[in-house]
Amino acid sequence: MRSMVNIALPKGRLGEKTYAMLKNAGFECPSIEETNRKLVFENPEKGVRYFWVKPSDVAIYVERGSADIGIVGKDILLEYKPDVYELLDMGMGKCKMAVAAPKGYKDIPGSTIRVATKFPTIASKHYSSKGKDIDIIKLNGSIEIAPLLGLSDVIVDIVETGSTLKANNLEVIEDIVPISARMIANKAAYKFKNQEINAIRNGLEIERGEIQ
Ligand code: PRP
Repeated sequence: MRSMVNIALPKGRLGEKTYAMLKNAGFECPSIEETNRKLVFENPEKGVRYFWVKPSDVAIYVERGSADIGIVGKDILLEYKPDVYELLDMGMGKCKMAVAAPKGYKDIPGSTIRVATKFPTIASKHYSSKGKDIDIIKLNGSIEIAPLLGLSDVIVDIVETGSTLKANNLEVIEDIVPISARMIANKAAYKFKNQEINAIRNGLEIERGEIQ
């Protein structure tokens, strides 16, 4: 008997786009389109069970095996390094991780830079590769406000359109890494549900070609 694949979708636009791709690939689940507060939907005929979870939690569900596969930003994979397989670059949710600072900012050589970020691991790795000392200030959102209030010198954050930086008189001073959404799989599930997971992966790869 074919086993059900448990799929963690990130709540929001990225998850909705992903579901649309899965539907087109033949893994539809009509109940998911009904508007209600339910978070789990399944279509046993197609062998899929979907969950809506917070985008930053997708990798936790997949790593621990509550979900077999999921869709997550590369930023989360780089920051938390979950022990999962990365199976496909979805070619969407494209943005970059960058260092930004107030316009006209100049780094004083030898000084410790105060860096506000939601991504302390990525920021530390970036600066240690340059041999620079930094003081990390971990925040949970609205990072752009930190240099404006004198809490930090620079920020390490996601830049998509650049409009948040612009609106706050900040500019990118260094690109760190390009980011996009990835399909990930639980390692044990990938072994035991290999055929089912690969069928979904290959369906997404074909749909990705359609949207690019
Ligand atoms: C993200 C990111 C930037 C913004 C970048 O924040 O942290 O603030 O989007 O997008 P832009 O370049 O298109 O302006 P998010 O909306 O996730 O909210 P947050 O401030 O709570 O992190």
